Formats: sequence, structure tokens, C-alpha cells
Amino acid sequence: MKIFLSLTVLSLVGLAFGAPTSSEEDEVLVITKDFFSKDSIIYSGKHEIVNLMVPLNGLNHENDNDHSSEYNPNSNEIDLNILLFFVEADVDSNGNRVDRGLYVMRNGKATKILEHGRDAAASRDDSNLAFFGAKDGIYVYDYANNSANKYGTVDYSIIGIGKEDTGDVIYILTENHEMFKVSKGGMRKEKINDVVDARQFVLDLSNNIYFYADDKQAYVRTINGVKKVEGLPQNPSSVTLIKPPVLMYEDAVPFVVDNRLYFIFANGTSEYFKTIFEPKAKPSAYAPDGFLIQYYAYNNKIYEFNLIAKFYDHVTSYLDTLIYDNMDKIQSAANKSPRPRQRQRV
Ligand SMILES: *[C@@H]1O[C@H](CO)[C@@H](O)[C@H](O)[C@H]1NC(C)=O
Ligand SMILES: *[C@@H]1O[C@H](CO)[C@@H](O)[C@H](O)[C@H]1NC(C)=O
Repeated sequence: MKIFLSLTVLSLVGLAFGAPTSSEEDEVLVITKDFFSKDSIIYSGKHEIVNLMVPLNGLNHENDNDHSSEYNPNSNEIDLNILLFFVEADVDSNGNRVDRGLYVMRNGKATKILEHGRDAAASRDDSNLAFFGAKDGIYVYDYANNSANKYGTVDYSIIGIGKEDTGDVIYILTENHEMFKVSKGGMRKEKINDVVDARQFVLDLSNNIYFYADDKQAYVRTINGVKKVEGLPQNPSSVTLIKPPVLMYEDAVPFVVDNRLYFIFANGTSEYFKTIFEPKAKPSAYAPDGFLIQYYAYNNKIYEFNLIAKFYDHVTSYLDTLIYDNMDKIQSAANKSPRPRQRQRV
């Protein structure tokens, strides 16, 4: 795999580490179409990719029996073999969503496992658990059969699903914009009354819930209740919440407002992250969760950005500084991130 240089790496490292270094204080990073290089494409489809999720759990660790797969720093011919889930959908001429299926990408091959699957959520622990929200309820991933099995008794039409780091507490958002907490193996559901009219939500690493309503304003729900996030543009035309990378702040999530990247915090504040997507270079889905291995969907394709290769390879000075300044964080992220391994070639 060709090493991805320059702005991309800077932006990804920037994304991963929080603020740019002080000397870069006033610089705004502009993501252009060049960001999406052909070398980084791992999947190419026929429909818009509206959702991407990398499970940071046993699905990307323990099923890997190939212990010869330690990364070889002398070779830059590394193919990652990450298991990830993604969702395709179109919009019809009346502006309605048309489901095109939830897929699993495994051993480099994409398989549709749920025709009406819309979102995925996974534990961040040693389990193999991943759940899907679908038109007719919740499904659980079956690793052995590479399929999805119905889970629990909920039968709502679900548009969003999220999960606490461990355990079996799942949050779902229905097509009617109601949120429920689901527990006890999917058998028990409780309506969350203080989350009103949510359109999308994500959890941070401390299990706070961030959502936005029809007004495209962001809110955060903590143990202290729901709070509006301050300091964001007043009348945006489009907003997207992103699942946070593993070693970002414990209590924040990325939020794209029109073409600008912000972080919003559990205390109700926000910060402009000095990153702008050119209108024609805006991803349709993001999965920075893996931190050192990040995925972006753009133009019906999935792109893989591999910072691990960059990390082990000869690095340019800017990156050196960032990485060596953050060595502890990186080591701990590398341990939490999906492990790279050789792809079987047949
Ligand atoms: C899933 O795989 C198991 C073996 O791992 C098998 O017994 C079972 O019948 C399979 N289920 C389906 C629905 O294919
Ligand atoms: C909110 O939280 C962020 C991140 O922890 C922190 O940097 C900021 O100072 C906090 N702001 C207030 C007003 O407490």
C-alpha cells in the first residue's frame, strides 16, 4: 500500500490528536478531492455509503489466528485486513431514503447481510458483539456464519443505534425520532423522554449521548440531563455527528457543520477544529474510531487511511514531532486499534 503523504496525514493526525501544534495555530486545513487517492480505495459500490463502522473489539482481534502477522517495518507492502460494517442507501426522486443494504467487509470481501440494515454499533471490549439497527428491529452479528440474526423483541423501524462501551445496554433511534434504551438481551426497552425529535445520535467514550434535532442544533445528554451545545453556527444547512476516535477526548465527539469540523463537549461547549471540507470533497460517512486506521466514504467508495504504516515508516519532521510528543497515546491506541495483518492472496 502506498504511503499517504502530506495534508492527508496531517489532517488525520490532527483529527486524532486534537488541536494542531502551536506553530500551526492559525492554519486552517482544507480537505480537497486530492485527499481521496485511488491507492486508498478498498471498496467501490453503486450506491451512496451513508454509514461506516469499525468494531474495536474481538471481531478485529481474537478471530485473528495468524500470529505471523506482526507488522514488518521494513516492508511498506502491508494490506490491512480489518472487519468493518457499512451501509448503502439512495434518495429517491421524492427525497425519501431507499435502503440498499448493510454490508460486512471481511478478508477484503464485502457481503450484504441485511437488506434493510441502517446503522451498526459494537462494544469496545474483548467480546465479538456488534448490533445492527434495521427497518424491523435489532440484529446481532453472527461471526461464524457471517450473517445477522434477529436480537431481542424490539420491532421498531430503527434509523440509529449506539452502544455503551461494554455490557448489553443499547440505544436506538426510531424512524419516529424517539430514543429507547434497550437492555436485558434485547428484551427490555425504556423510552428516553428527554431526547426529543433526534435525527442522529452518537455516544462518546464516557457514554454521554450527543444528538441533533430537526433544527440541526446539537444537544448533549449526560447524567445531569440534556443541554444545548453552545458556540455553533446558527442556521446550518447540513450537520453530521461522527463516532469519536479511540483516544480523543473522553467526553467529546466530532461534529461536521456544513463544511466545517467542530468538536462538541459533554459540558455543552464546542470548538472549531480548523478543518474545512471543500464542498466536492465531503465524505458521505466517516469511521475515524480506529484512530491509526481510519475509513472515509466518498463517491460510493470506501477509502482506508493507514497511519500505522506511516507511524512505523520513515516520517517527515512534522509528523515526527507530533508522534514523538504523543508516543504514550499512540502506543495505547495501537493496542486498542484493530491489529494489522497480511491479507490472504489467492
Ligand atoms: C450458523 O453456524 C452454525 C455453526 O457455526 C450452524 O450450526 C448454524 O446452523 C448456522 N446458522 C445458520 C442460520 O446458518
Ligand atoms: C468543557 O470541556 C472541555 C473539554 O474537557 C474543556 O476544554 C473546556 O474548558 C470546558 N469548558 C467549560 C466552560 O467548562
